[in-house]
Amino acid sequence: MMTSKKNIHFSYDEHARKCAPDDFSGQTRRTVQGVPVPAEQIQMIVDAIKLGLDFDEDDALVELACGNGSLSQFLFLSCKKYQGVDVSEYLISIAKKNFELLPNYRFQECGAIEYLQNEKEPQKFTKLLCYAGIQYFKDDELVSMLSLVTEKFINIKTIFIGSIPDKSRAEQFYKDHTPTSEELSDSNTALGVWRNQQEFESLANMAGWTAKFSNMPTSFYASYYRYDVVLSRVNLR
Ligand SMILES: C[S@@+](CC[C@H](N)C(=O)[O-])C[C@H]1O[C@@H](n2cnc3c(N)ncnc32)[C@H](O)[C@@H]1O
Repeated sequence: MMTSKKNIHFSYDEHARKCAPDDFSGQTRRTVQGVPVPAEQIQMIVDAIKLGLDFDEDDALVELACGNGSLSQFLFLSCKKYQGVDVSEYLISIAKKNFELLPNYRFQECGAIEYLQNEKEPQKFTKLLCYAGIQYFKDDELVSMLSLVTEKFINIKTIFIGSIPDKSRAEQFYKDHTPTSEELSDSNTALGVWRNQQEFESLANMAGWTAKFSNMPTSFYASYYRYDVVLSRVNLR
């Protein structure tokens, strides 16, 4: 029987439960042909996030779609407080068991939008991170999320959004077939929504943010089809 790709809803929670409890890379699919991405490559990600967020020691970081916390842990020394949220119950259980350092470095099972809507003390946060997660949100959801940060998280002035699949370079990734535009704009696939930089910038602008794009060094395993962006508040004078 033929199955239609567009109807398959990829779930990180279901995927991660099939991996070994200590296979942190496998759980979040940070692998190349099934092999975990090496530590030097992870360090490149950490360096890019630190450069983009320009931490100071008093920063309180909120991370959306934090997964199992295996990347987040490397940021704990750079900030005073950390709150990671992810919709996957299983990945958050892994994060709590292996990486949580109470009371200042916490993980919470919650959808990103619900979290931004319901956080009781949004003003305590100063920086926001979403790494390899923004593609699982549709355009209207992305604008809603950034707008909630604009309005409620008033002390967040800098956002780092990393590892965004670049629609203008999709053919370099999909060597075996040409993806349809429907496939590239489906937030429920394993790779989520592909956006080019102009598309991303206009969504960010709608929510009150300016965008500065960057690419990882060419030695980074995913640099050929993904990019990063730092968002700053539009200066209202
Ligand atoms: C590729 S993993 C990245 C995890 C982590 N940021 C990292 O880089 O290791 C994508 C994550 O997005 C999460 N996610 C997808 N939709 C979400 C939503 N609506 N709210 C919060 N997290 C979500 C998944 O559960 C998964 O953990």
